[in-house]
Amino acid sequence: MALVNAKEMTKKAFEGQYAVPHINTNNLEWSKAILETAQEMNSPIIIATSEGAVKYMGGQHVVVGMVKGLMKDLNITVPVALHLDHGSKEGALNALKSGYTSVMYDGSHEDFETNFANSKEVIEAAKAGNQSVEVEVGTLGGEEDGITGNGDLADPEEVAKMATLGPDMIAAGIGNIHGPYPASWKSLSFETLSKLKQAAGRAIVLHGGSGIPGDQIEKAISMGVSKINVNTELQQANAAAVKEFVISGKVDQGKNFDPRKLYADGYKAMKETVRFKINQFGSANKA
Ligand code: 13P
Repeated sequence: MALVNAKEMTKKAFEGQYAVPHINTNNLEWSKAILETAQEMNSPIIIATSEGAVKYMGGQHVVVGMVKGLMKDLNITVPVALHLDHGSKEGALNALKSGYTSVMYDGSHEDFETNFANSKEVIEAAKAGNQSVEVEVGTLGGEEDGITGNGDLADPEEVAKMATLGPDMIAAGIGNIHGPYPASWKSLSFETLSKLKQAAGRAIVLHGGSGIPGDQIEKAISMGVSKINVNTELQQANAAAVKEFVISGKVDQGKNFDPRKLYADGYKAMKETVRFKINQFGSANKA
């Protein structure tokens, strides 16, 4: 199946009270693990790259070619959107030309007027190509690719204004943080989320989806979150499995220096993590 945009899948999730998993990819193993597991679970999926991951892999055309090739050769039939995560305006506009079916323009570090004007430009370009767009209001917490935020709570008035531009998805801070949650972190702000749902009237995106307790994920989904972004948990699962393979001495047995053997346990661990998220987000059999 060809790549699709994320319009239909997130709209259906918003109406059906589940969330589409947005899983960040970093390389071929990641991409294959994400696509294969989505297919096995009959789940729609958003496979995403940060700008840092795009640079790491060589460029946007490498990512587009890799994901399209995997879809064809693995006979993936569930809906898959290829999404640029936290794009700059230029990065998002380029991704729309390179074959991404969905982009996020992240203007959260700009003042609201600049964010609004740039979001408008990216939304118009995406609409012209029938691609989907996510925009962000306010700053999210934690650190991702060198961008640090404060764990903000988004302003519902700004979210309502942003919604008038007609984005498909809006990311807005509700106390969520990228990367591991510190021991001092208490909870998502459901009071903020209920105000944002009213203001947004469409799919709300929860960034920093790694490490949030399951009961809070379920509550957030029941209150309008319909796309949840996960990156760190796959990285941790892969790193733990590869570390075990090396320190247990397995790496020195036979031909285990072969990358296909060296990465096999990490690959399995990533698939298990994606499976867990699909079940937790309620997107299994929603393809
Ligand atoms: P985590 O790395 O915390 O899972 O967050 C991912 C994310 O929000 C990507 O946009």
